[in-house]
Amino acid sequence: MVAGNWKMNLTLQEAIDLAEQIASRLKDSTEASTPIVLCPPAGYLQAVSSITKEIRGLYTGAQNCHQEVSGAYTGEISVAMIQSCGAEYVILGHSERRAYFHEDNILLSKKVKRALAQGLKVIFCCGETLPERESEKHFDLVKQQLQEGLFHLSEEEMSLITIAYEPVWAIGTGVTATKEQAQEMHAFIRSLLREIYANSVADNCSILYGGSCNPKNAKELFEQEDVDGGLIGGASLKAEDFLAIIHSL
Ligand code: PGA
Repeated sequence: MVAGNWKMNLTLQEAIDLAEQIASRLKDSTEASTPIVLCPPAGYLQAVSSITKEIRGLYTGAQNCHQEVSGAYTGEISVAMIQSCGAEYVILGHSERRAYFHEDNILLSKKVKRALAQGLKVIFCCGETLPERESEKHFDLVKQQLQEGLFHLSEEEMSLITIAYEPVWAIGTGVTATKEQAQEMHAFIRSLLREIYANSVADNCSILYGGSCNPKNAKELFEQEDVDGGLIGGASLKAEDFLAIIHSL
């Protein structure tokens, strides 16, 4: 999978133009076996999904959802709302949601459960900060994020999860994890899955890399055995760059 996280960027018209450029270039592609997910701001979900639904293998995702079904939660978006706009995925646990909106593993576990219960597929993010890596706590930290956020799921539910490893120090910084650092963590994540779930679940789970991934470094990252694609921020806002990353897979 390659997913583009547009974050809080673009006007409606710019979002439509970007989705159309990507859709038109993927139209004749034979790579439909690789899901491509565009994750625009919530207000553009319907406009973007009306474009992505025309192309096999191209999907729309939200960047967040609320853990409750509906109700008095001013400013929030529910799973049903996301689905009614035609989106099929949701990103949960992004480090910006964890840092700026105080989302912890327990809250995220509820969001994951809610999304899956109502039929939304989840791209679940994990990853350590620089001080955590420098003090060699990165494996423990990622393990804890996954244990508390995801590992309450049944085998069937887990098969609907895509995991994105995004070291916080690499997000939007221009500093990418080396291919060795990415592979090491991805292999670790897959080994955790193997401890808890059937081998088939661990083998089939897509583990994406995210953090300053661009057309120049995507290929060497994607070539790593346990790197199954990317969650792309800045470079997903330019059709040329995003398409080049897709073609690196
Ligand atoms: P970046 O962001 O590609 O701009 O580093 C990745 C992400 O936050 O998902």
